[in-house]
Amino acid sequence: MASVLAYCRAGYENDTANELTTWLAEKGVYGYPMFRPGDAYVLFHQYDTTDNSAAEPALEVNKVIFARQLIHVIKHLSELDREDRIGPILDALKTATLPFNKAGDIVIEYPDTEEGKNLAKFCRKFLVPLRQTLRKHGLLSKQENHAKPRLHIFFTDFDNCHLGYSLPAEASEFAMGICRLRFPSDAPSRSTLKLEEALLSMLNDSQRQRVCRRSGRAVDLGACPGGWTYQLVQREMFVEAVDNGSIDETLMSTGQIEHFAADGFSYRPQMGRVDLLVCDMIEKPDRVADLMGDWLVRDWCDHAVFNLKLPMKKRFETVTQALDALHEKLRKLHDTFYIRARHLYHDRDEVTVVVVRN
Ligand SMILES: C[S@@+](CC[C@H](N)C(=O)[O-])C[C@H]1O[C@@H](n2cnc3c(N)ncnc32)[C@H](O)[C@@H]1O
Repeated sequence: MASVLAYCRAGYENDTANELTTWLAEKGVYGYPMFRPGDAYVLFHQYDTTDNSAAEPALEVNKVIFARQLIHVIKHLSELDREDRIGPILDALKTATLPFNKAGDIVIEYPDTEEGKNLAKFCRKFLVPLRQTLRKHGLLSKQENHAKPRLHIFFTDFDNCHLGYSLPAEASEFAMGICRLRFPSDAPSRSTLKLEEALLSMLNDSQRQRVCRRSGRAVDLGACPGGWTYQLVQREMFVEAVDNGSIDETLMSTGQIEHFAADGFSYRPQMGRVDLLVCDMIEKPDRVADLMGDWLVRDWCDHAVFNLKLPMKKRFETVTQALDALHEKLRKLHDTFYIRARHLYHDRDEVTVVVVRN
């Protein structure tokens, strides 16, 4: 029986499990999720199947919202001998039927929780001898090769781990699926990291260049104190910042910003249209998605990046409803759109959506 391991933010296991079950069922893969609230991961066990094509579904992590990383599980190793954890891992890899001969890389990971942090030092140390052994046995390439599959050892505690792999075309490139960023000391708010992470991790180079066109124009709805505007200014864009609050003075002094103390729901772009609309207003997700759809349909913006603030319950259902309504609105247009939603590492109780007009 094949299994899928999903890493997520602690507290989001139920949403991750619901999404994974729905998404995999759409691929014809059926099973059941298992998780404990607060553990920051979900295991999805596939029902036994004789149809091998359904046994290893493609796990394109950027197509789901809540999972940070998706792993094809090879084996669960329990009650490991603390004197020899490497032996069972080696045996499991030697006897497994894998879709590759040699992995290009190996990472040792742990849940993104307070308890998980206790494993960090051990995981770092364990990597060195394990890597050497796997190389000696021809299971791992001599040099790191990111074009090849990556092995993952996910320790849930010192004695138990899941052994699995990910494929480079499907997986997050970041360790534990976490895009860590340094807070720029001159940015007016930590929110700036949400937009930076979205631009870096949700768009490819060519999309990023079009979305953040140099000397292009952007509107930032709910802009204060200016963390998102800061990212756009850094990328040499001109910004109409809309909010009743006040924008950071240093940021204003760049001369790239016009501040409008106005309601984001009735604001219209000064020159009729902009390249990019961003929105971080604290509002109901369906209202925000509806507003974004209006701007895109009326061609007031080419592209959009926005956050949907989530309620405490039924988060997956709420996001799905808002996104379905947006898809429905955009379907009527001749243009096609690349739409992705992700619960980013720097997001709180919210998800970030990017919409790129093709
Ligand atoms: C989460 S903060 C935005 C933080 C900002 N993205 C940053 O990086 O600094 C939300 C902002 O939305 C603004 N806001 C909420 N409702 C709004 C509305 N209807 N029109 C304009 N701004 C609104 C609030 O005043 C608040 O400053």
